[in-house]
Formats: sequence, structure tokens, C-alpha cells
Amino acid sequence: MRSVLVVGAGAMGSQIAMVCALAGHQVCLHDVDPAMLERADRELRDRMARQVEKGRRTADDVTAAFERLRVADSLAAAAAAADADLVIEAVVERIEVKSELFAELDRLCPPATILASNSSSFVPSRLAAATGRADRVCNLHFFNPALVMACVEVVPGPETSGQTVASCVDLVESLGKVPVVLEKEIPGFVANRILNAVRDEAIRLYEGGYAGVEAIDTACRTALGYPMGPFELMDLTGIDIGYLTKQARYAETGDPADLPSRSVTELVERGHLGRKTGRGWYTYEGV
Ligand SMILES: NC(=O)c1ccc[n+]([C@@H]2O[C@H](COP(=O)([O-])OP(=O)(O)OC[C@H]3O[C@@H](n4cnc5c(N)ncnc54)[C@H](O)[C@@H]3O)[C@@H](O)[C@H]2O)c1
Repeated sequence: MRSVLVVGAGAMGSQIAMVCALAGHQVCLHDVDPAMLERADRELRDRMARQVEKGRRTADDVTAAFERLRVADSLAAAAAAADADLVIEAVVERIEVKSELFAELDRLCPPATILASNSSSFVPSRLAAATGRADRVCNLHFFNPALVMACVEVVPGPETSGQTVASCVDLVESLGKVPVVLEKEIPGFVANRILNAVRDEAIRLYEGGYAGVEAIDTACRTALGYPMGPFELMDLTGIDIGYLTKQARYAETGDPADLPSRSVTELVERGHLGRKTGRGWYTYEGV
């Protein structure tokens, strides 16, 4: 059993905290916004109640997990309460917010505490730079929804120690998940880079006039066994998400190859962001 502090109670942090509590760890969940903590508690209780109804978990296991999961609306209180072996940061994807938080965690947490980030794109060395413990900083990249998805990428920076990696692998295995350990850091890591490469090739084929959106999605589903095609997936996750990620990458690299594609930019400018707006690559009724 370990003590884990999860910072950020949004889509990812709330479920990561629950996964850890269900696995028997003591967890403290912190967010700057008390409303997010209330929402996380409400959503997790609803979700767990449904799992009990479906017979996937016992009511006793769920009650015990909630007893191990505390919330705190001040970081200092959270750090003190948790006295954590490990912090998993899951706050908004902005480097200045994360860097400031890592500096504060470095001040608040005992020297042995590992500081891990769930960032989808920032490499750990960027966050380690804000701390005096680069050997105990790495990325632990969970996938959405964290309660369901098995893979967790463990990404060491150049100064991350082997002991830190081993400890993170241990933790991931204790959660019943599958650790995928990178040899060295790269923005976006493994799974999302591959996903994005497929998406970019699909867009290239479409913009080159080689095949239509539906044809490309059908090929991916029926030839490659993908559960959904790249255009369907973009509509589901929100076309603006990939657009903003590319803009951020371009701001970092200055490489025109990292700019969002023409067709994606046009969709975003017209407000066609996918299912959530009723129109993206496809049109959806009743939104
Ligand atoms: N959503 C995904 O599919 C996904 C998947 C994998 C990884 N991630 C990564 O997880 C992280 C969180 O993403 P999310 O989708 O859960 O975001 P989200 O917007 O749902 O939640 C972010 C939370 O962080 C809180 N927050 C902001 N600044 C804070 C601070 N200084 N201290 C404490 N809390 C703070 C916000 O109040 C909010 O509740 C990001 O780094 C993202 O890249 C997201």
C-alpha cells in the first residue's frame, strides 16, 4: 500500500485517484477549484454505483475504496495529509501552470516523493527543471477513461533514476494496468504519436483527393481492424483538440510540418468541431 497524491480532479485526475483507491492505496485528491472536487466525488460515486449494480464490483470494495480516497482544496493541506510516496499531476495542459505546480510540490513534499505528470505531450525534463529532484520526476501517462484503459506509459527523462522507473512500474502493475516503459523521452510518447501519424496520413490522402472521408474510415475499420476510422475518431474527441495540440507543437518547434492541416483549420474556423457541435467531418442529427 502506498500513499498517492493526485493533483487535478478533472476528467483524468478523478479517475486516476479512484483507480489508485480501488487498488488499495491511500489517496488524496486536490484541485484548485472546489466545484471540481464536488463534481469528481459525485461522478465517481455514480459510476461506482453502476458498477456495483452490474455486479462488476462489490459494494464493500467500493465503500472501502471511498474510505481511502480523501479530498483537499489546498495543496499544502493535501501534501501534508498525503505525505505521499508518489504525486500524480493531472492539471490543465499548460506548461507554465505545471511548472509552477512542480516547483511548489518540490517544496512541500518529502525528498523521497516521486513527482509524476499525466501530461499527454510535455516531456518530463521540462517539469523536472522546475524542481531540485530531476531523478524523481517522470511521466505516468494514463489513457482516457483511466478507470477502463489498461495502458500507462512510463516516460523517464534523461535524469530520471532507474529506481524511480522501477517504482512507477510497480505502482502501475499494482493498479492492474499495463506499463509501457519508454527508453527516452519524446513529446507525445508512443501511442498518441502513432495515432496522430495515422490521422495525419488520413488527412493527407483526403486533401490530395485520393479518397473521401468515409472511404478512408471504412478502410481503417475493415482492413486494419480499427474500432473507428480516423475521421470518426476526430469527430468524437473534438476536432479543436488536435488543432490546438498541433498549434502548440508548432509554437515549440517552428516546423511548418507541425502546423494544423488546411481542412482541419477550415473546420475549426467554421465552428464544425465534431459531434459536440453536430457537425465535423460528418453531420450528426439531434445535437
Ligand atoms: N482528457 C484526456 O483524454 C487526457 C488523456 C491523457 C492525459 N491527459 C492529460 O491529463 C491532464 C488533465 O487533463 P484533463 O482532461 O483531466 O483536464 P480537465 O480540464 O478535465 O481537468 C484539469 C483540472 O485541473 C485543475 N487545475 C488547474 N490548475 C490547477 C492547479 N494549479 N492545481 C490544482 N488543480 C488545477 C482544474 O480545476 C481542472 O479540474 C492534462 O495534462 C492532459 O494532457 C488528458
